[in-house]
Amino acid sequence: MRLYVNIDHVATLREARKTDEPDPVRAAEAAERGGADGITVHLREDRRHIQDADVRALRQRVRTVLNLELGASAEILRLACRLRPFQATLVPERRQEITTEGGLALRPGDRKLADAVRRLAGAGVRVSLFIGPEPRTIERAAALGVAAIELHTGRYAHTWRRSDAALEALRRAARQARALGLAVHAGHGLTYQNVQPVAAIPEIEELNIGHSIVSNAVFWGMEEAVRRMRRLVDEAGKSS
Ligand code: PXP
Repeated sequence: MRLYVNIDHVATLREARKTDEPDPVRAAEAAERGGADGITVHLREDRRHIQDADVRALRQRVRTVLNLELGASAEILRLACRLRPFQATLVPERRQEITTEGGLALRPGDRKLADAVRRLAGAGVRVSLFIGPEPRTIERAAALGVAAIELHTGRYAHTWRRSDAALEALRRAARQARALGLAVHAGHGLTYQNVQPVAAIPEIEELNIGHSIVSNAVFWGMEEAVRRMRRLVDEAGKSS
């Protein structure tokens, strides 16, 4: 199981003062020392946290791999194709939302999305689609010819204390996607408390975790916060 650490909220803190600290590059380096297999950032259209210069600097300085989350807007796609991160995860984006609230709708005939997939893949970037765990959405993702999907774990993160239904949906979705030849990633809302049942799903090979790690880095430091998450993920993998 690969653990990719999303460092957007290090930039959120910096942008709260429009200053130069904390530096996302330093956070990425600490995350790598703590055992991250990759660094994830979301370059949002409103640039509320990560800035273009951060993505350029991370592209140079990340020693593992860079996963760029992006909406299918022309401007951001151009930048992604120029910078060529290892992986691009296409996400839905609405300016008013606090965070990415749902997965991509994947409507049949969505030329904009198909075009984005084609352009990124053409630039040599591994493409992943952030989607909900619904069977029809997974079929459509496979039809788009992407390498991977990232299952949105938001519903699980909201309901795991009272119900197993969302976990069961993730398990079914992971099996279906794998059978269709897709690599399966997962993320959103995962924490030190709820990560293990998801990390134990055998078909899932990559987790993207941000807010909980950055939040706890305030107390433990980034390196230790990643190390503790890494340990939980590895333990869950061994017991599955
Ligand atoms: N994966 C995707 C596609 C996301 O958009 C986000 C949030 O930026 C995450 C994972 C990480 O979510 P969280 O910050 O809740 O761990």
